[in-house]
Amino acid sequence: PGKAYGYTEEIAATLITSQTLQAKIAELAVAVAADHHNPKPPLLICVLKGAVMFVTDFAMALPIPSELEFMAVSSYGSATSSSGVVRILKDLDGDITGRRVVIVEDIIDSGLTLSWLLKNLQTRGPASIEVVALLRKPDAVKVDVDVRYVGFDIPNEFVVGYGLDYAERYRDMPFVGLLDPKMYL
Ligand code: PRP
Ligand code: MN
Ligand code: MG
Repeated sequence: PGKAYGYTEEIAATLITSQTLQAKIAELAVAVAADHHNPKPPLLICVLKGAVMFVTDFAMALPIPSELEFMAVSSYGSATSSSGVVRILKDLDGDITGRRVVIVEDIIDSGLTLSWLLKNLQTRGPASIEVVALLRKPDAVKVDVDVRYVGFDIPNEFVVGYGLDYAERYRDMPFVGLLDPKMYL
């Protein structure tokens, strides 16, 4: 796995192939569209950087028009786990008052990032907020977040690719893989 990208020695296995990702994204897009058909296009908020691959494929798979915003957040503290104290690195460009917001996230690990983000965005007066998350680790969740659309529940292992990084690497792989433990041990 990862051969074409020069990561062969670093990726232990493929967890979700590109094909399987795309099939699931098409399903998620149909489900979100069914709940957001009118009157105004939903506003997709991509949580940078991890969700960047997902949001582009998801927006193009959505059978209805949507608009796109980006937000970048960062947790303080240790590099390997979120502290729950979040700081905004890049805020939304526009006002979300009265909008139907769909937060697009690559993964819910502890749930701390999303929990903070939901609270933050709720204060801005949107008409509704839903979350679509491609991946979720049920065994890692520390705070329960109400997520309507989830692609895959995955084991509590170190996954990379399709936007997910380890020290900023591997985001460019078109599939989700398991990082070889030798890379972080
Ligand atoms: C990762 C991931 C999620 C978050 C999930 O982002 O993309 O946004 O962590 O973790 P949590 O549920 O424990 O809060 P990260 O902070 O690594 O930034 P990045 O998206 O730029 O990689
Ligand atoms: Mn992220
Ligand atoms: Mg990261």
